[in-house]
Amino acid sequence: MTDRYAVIGNPVGHSLSPRIHAAFAGRTGQDMEYGRLEAPTNGFARAAGEFLGAGGRGLNVTLPFKLDAWRWVDSHDEAAAASGAVNTIVVDGKHNRGCNTDGIGLTRDLLDNLGWKLDGARTLLLGAGGAAQGAIGSLMRAGATLTVANRTKSRAESLAARFGIANAGLDEVDAGWDVVVNATSASVAGIGGLVDPRVVMDSRCYDMFYALDSPTPFCAWATGHGAKAVSDGLGMLIEQAAQAFFLWRDVRPETAGITALLRSDAR
Ligand code: ATR
Repeated sequence: MTDRYAVIGNPVGHSLSPRIHAAFAGRTGQDMEYGRLEAPTNGFARAAGEFLGAGGRGLNVTLPFKLDAWRWVDSHDEAAAASGAVNTIVVDGKHNRGCNTDGIGLTRDLLDNLGWKLDGARTLLLGAGGAAQGAIGSLMRAGATLTVANRTKSRAESLAARFGIANAGLDEVDAGWDVVVNATSASVAGIGGLVDPRVVMDSRCYDMFYALDSPTPFCAWATGHGAKAVSDGLGMLIEQAAQAFFLWRDVRPETAGITALLRSDAR
C-alpha cells in the first residue's frame, strides 16, 4: 500500500513541500503520496490525530503549528528539544516522534550548496523568534561564533542566555561580520533594511525567507549595500525536506537541481 504523508499548516495552499517530496519520491523510487492538510488554527491535534490515526506515516508541520506539534508529540529528537519547535513528525507504531530538521537544512544549504565557511565565522543572526531559535544549535555545531540581534532586545537577551552566545539590539549592531543570517519575518512585510547598512558590507548574507521569482527584500537590500554574496532560503527549505524524507524513508534523496525546478515551475 502507498504510504501517505502530508504537510499540515494554515494556510497551506502555497506550500512547496508536496512538489519537493514528489520529486524526491520520483528520484528514489519510493512508493508514497504527499498531500496538504489545512487545519483550523485551533485544530492541530484533531487534524494530526485523524491523519495519523487513519494510517498516515508522517507529517511536516508548518506555521502556525510548530509549537502545537511540539506539545502534542510523544517524544522529541535533540533538535526539536533544543528549539522548542517540531517541523517533522515520524510515526513509529503508536509512537509519534517530534523532530526538527530546519537547523540542519540551514547549515546543509550554507555549507554544502553555497560553500560558505561557518567554522570560526563571525556570524550575526537577526531575529529571536521561532525561526532564529531553530537555527542556533546547528550554527553553533558548525563552529560559528554567534551573536543574536533582535528588535525587541529582551528576546535576544533571553535566547543568548539560553545558548551562551552574545546579543544586541538591531540598532546597536556594528560592522564586521563574515555571515549574516536573517531569521526575522520582516521580509513578509517587504522590509529588508533591518540594521545599519555597514553591517552587511563585505559579508555573506542569507535570508531564511524565500521568493521564487525575485530577490527577497533582505537579499535585495544586502546586495545594494555591498554584501559579498546573498542567498534566499529556498535551498534551506529543500534541505530540511530532504532530512525529513530521510527520517521517514531511510533514504537520502539527491537535492541538486530542485531549486531550479521550483523556480522554473513558478515562471
Ligand atoms: P517566527 O516563528 O517566524 O520566527 P516570531 O516568533 O513571530 O516568528 O518572530 C518574528 C521575528 O521577526 C522576531 O524576532 C521579530 O522581532 P520582535 O521580537 O522585535 O517582534 C522579527 N520581526 C518581525 N518584523 C520585524 C520588523 N519589521 N523589523 C524587525 N524585526 C522584525
